[in-house]
Amino acid sequence: MSPSAEQYGDRMFTHVTQGERARLDALADAVSQYTHRDLRRLDVPAGERLLDVGGGTGVVSQRMTETHPGAEVVCVDRSVTLMSDRAGYAHVEADVCDQATWDRLGTFGLVHARNLLMHLRRRDFVFDRMLEAVVPGGWLMVADMVDAPELRRSLRFRETFAQLREYMEAELGTSMTCGMTYAQRMQDAGMTDVGVSYDALTVGPDKPGAAFMARTLRHLWPDIVSKGYAKPGDADEAIAYLEGGRHWDSAIAFVTAWGRKV
Ligand SMILES: C[S@@+](CC[C@H](N)C(=O)[O-])C[C@H]1O[C@@H](n2cnc3c(N)ncnc32)[C@H](O)[C@@H]1O
Repeated sequence: MSPSAEQYGDRMFTHVTQGERARLDALADAVSQYTHRDLRRLDVPAGERLLDVGGGTGVVSQRMTETHPGAEVVCVDRSVTLMSDRAGYAHVEADVCDQATWDRLGTFGLVHARNLLMHLRRRDFVFDRMLEAVVPGGWLMVADMVDAPELRRSLRFRETFAQLREYMEAELGTSMTCGMTYAQRMQDAGMTDVGVSYDALTVGPDKPGAAFMARTLRHLWPDIVSKGYAKPGDADEAIAYLEGGRHWDSAIAFVTAWGRKV
């Protein structure tokens, strides 16, 4: 396959794509309980601003306005199309791979990103900018999906997800393993109170993680096929398996790391 310069949101996963709102809502349904649990661990310094990076629909920013009433909450994303008009947080439409974005964002008592860095070729740059944007005594929290294929019982599901993963890695620069590196990076950067949580999403009846994965397969499959990574019917069995509600299996893991800046 030829190297690609495409970035998340250029063409695949734009916020105006039909079904993208529902896909991001399914993602939020699958992981927000873990995000909320881990955000509760952090005592954000009084009076400081809070930032959600690549905030998508604004679901985490909305939560921040509820947990920190009166604090200024900022949600930055390359597209603000899916954010609520009546939200109590600031919408900033900007590319976080661009230094100018960070120059104008300023500093925060909490900087959070979920399911963003894994999709960025410039993830190291963005991680460093997020760390810089945290005030002393403030927190950095970064979360991403991590793939654990060997835990999947279904060989067909494992094979189909391997095709999707190969496509996303080659075409978008996505990493399905980088989430395991964040806690160590925070430790090495001299942060204190570093912690990490690892939550397994499952396939099963009414499991939002499975619904999210099925939606992602449906969305990407025509492009995966047209670029030669798979054949048209290859994903049908895995989609039925994820959506059928009759099978229990391992879906994917969700890892969150946090640390306090000295
Ligand atoms: C998988 S979605 C996750 C949304 C949200 N964080 C959540 O967990 O519900 C990734 C988000 O990152 C945004 N994004 C991707 N690349 C970006 C960039 N270079 N600058 C700003 N936002 C970006 C996308 O527009 C999208 O909203």
